[in-house]
Amino acid sequence: MVEITTLSEVTIDGKLSLGATASSKGLFDFYGDDLRAWFHAQRAAHDAIMVGAGTVLSDDPELTVRHAPGPNPLRIVPSSMGMLPRDAKLLNDGHPTVLVVSRSAKEADIEALKSKPNVEVVRCGGRRVDLPGLMNILDARGIKA
Ligand SMILES: NC(=O)c1ccc[n+]([C@@H]2O[C@H](COP(=O)([O-])OP(=O)(O)OC[C@H]3O[C@@H](n4cnc5c(N)ncnc54)[C@H](OP(=O)(O)O)[C@@H]3O)[C@@H](O)[C@H]2O)c1
Repeated sequence: MVEITTLSEVTIDGKLSLGATASSKGLFDFYGDDLRAWFHAQRAAHDAIMVGAGTVLSDDPELTVRHAPGPNPLRIVPSSMGMLPRDAKLLNDGHPTVLVVSRSAKEADIEALKSKPNVEVVRCGGRRVDLPGLMNILDARGIKA
């Protein structure tokens, strides 16, 4: 079984970002050094980290561990059609990323993604990514948290 931790930065008025489709990266600027280190230590303590395709589009995140010691988690991004920006940082920095697409994704798009360094593409689900099915795949690969 995969143990899932959800971690969200939420403003005091209940916002997850500074506006619709705006990057949430601006919230990180309000952190002190201790909180920044804690946040990244959480990454280091987990086997994998997952964000949706929308976050890759708006934030272009790295999802690596930079403000604390420890290993990078495996990055996982569900994107039903595999339509992510080809220049996204997590597709080009050489750290491992698993893109999870549905069976509706086009083979040509998958091949383009697979040509990136250390990017793996997994199909899971019919029209959309099957998230419970994805958890079973991750569990079988030894990703526990
Ligand atoms: N405050 C925070 O902690 C925090 C953290 C991260 C992001 N954010 C903010 O959140 C916003 C982005 O949010 P978002 O609503 O776009 O959510 P998201 O979770 O980043 O991405 C949602 C996308 O994931 C894809 N997806 C694939 N399979 C799915 C499935 N089975 N179920 C649902 N989605 C699936 C869908 O794209 P496809 O249709 O292409 O499959 C869907 O549109 C940005 O403003 C970002 O800055 C805030």
